[in-house]
Amino acid sequence: MLKLLPLLFLALFTMAPALAADPARGALPPAPQKSPSMADAERALALAEGGDAAAGKEVYAVCSACHLPSGFGRRDGGYPKLAGQHSTVLIKQIADIRAHVRENPGMHSFVMELRDPRDIANVAAHIESLCIPPGNGRYFLPDADARIVEGKQIFDKDCADCHQAKGQGSKEKGHPVLAGQHYRYLLRQMADIRDGYRQNVDPDMVSAVKKHKNNKLESLAAYLATLEAPGTPCEPAQARK
Ligand code: HEC
Ligand code: HEC
Repeated sequence: MLKLLPLLFLALFTMAPALAADPARGALPPAPQKSPSMADAERALALAEGGDAAAGKEVYAVCSACHLPSGFGRRDGGYPKLAGQHSTVLIKQIADIRAHVRENPGMHSFVMELRDPRDIANVAAHIESLCIPPGNGRYFLPDADARIVEGKQIFDKDCADCHQAKGQGSKEKGHPVLAGQHYRYLLRQMADIRDGYRQNVDPDMVSAVKKHKNNKLESLAAYLATLEAPGTPCEPAQARK
């Protein structure tokens, strides 16, 4: 069967144009419209709401399938750790993803279940109020120690102005917490922002990562993953789920 796989792919590949041209299939859906102005408007409305963490807990149920009830996400970085992230940052990301400014096809339909700016503010308040679950995905290759030292040097020079000395970010300015995030998620975001796949990002942030090749981004992510996230650590009884 394995031997036949390449043939199968080839067959699908050569069939694809014919399928697309078949009138019975109807037109392809239009490409999603990016709307930065819609994202900015929705963000402003959600920020004005304040946010009610208790009401946001119910809203968060739909999110917990991927991000987990604790907001831990996944160690492999497939889903980011959300617990304790600043609500200002969360609100911006949710509004950007809804308006297709930040592309996240897997998550889009779920954030569209939020009914209005109040739901967005409430779910962000709930996530921000979560205790910090222990542990995270780290860089574990044998050169980890040297990477972490190098990452700290670059971070202190190029990034700490905004993300703060311990990677705790700033709620007021909307600079994300990076401390204690999963290694692979950090790395993917830096590369996506540098290479223009993640848009609507502060241009100074973009130029800060543009200076660095992949191996430096790896060192930065290795370092940031070792930092302790701000916020209240979970009690041992609140096991990671
Ligand atoms: C199907 C899985 C899935 C569901 C359900 C889901 N997410 Fe996500 N979410 C993701 C993935 C994957 C990413 C990271 C995408 C990337 O790498 O850019 C993400 C990223 C995020 C981010 C960006 C985090 C950051 O640090 O910038 C926020 C905020 C977020 N999700 C909130 C939510 C909320 C709120 C809900 C519920 C309304 C939700 N997610 C539901 C998969 C999901
Ligand atoms: C001018 C301020 C500024 C500087 C300097 C800066 N950043 Fe950022 N960074 C931001 C902002 C603002 C965001 C949120 C972007 C958005 O709105 O999507 C961000 C997002 C990120 C993210 C994604 C976080 C997430 O949860 O998805 C990472 C990782 C990151 N920055 C790392 C760095 C590193 C590493 C450096 C230094 C090389 C750096 N930043 C320099 C402001 C800055």
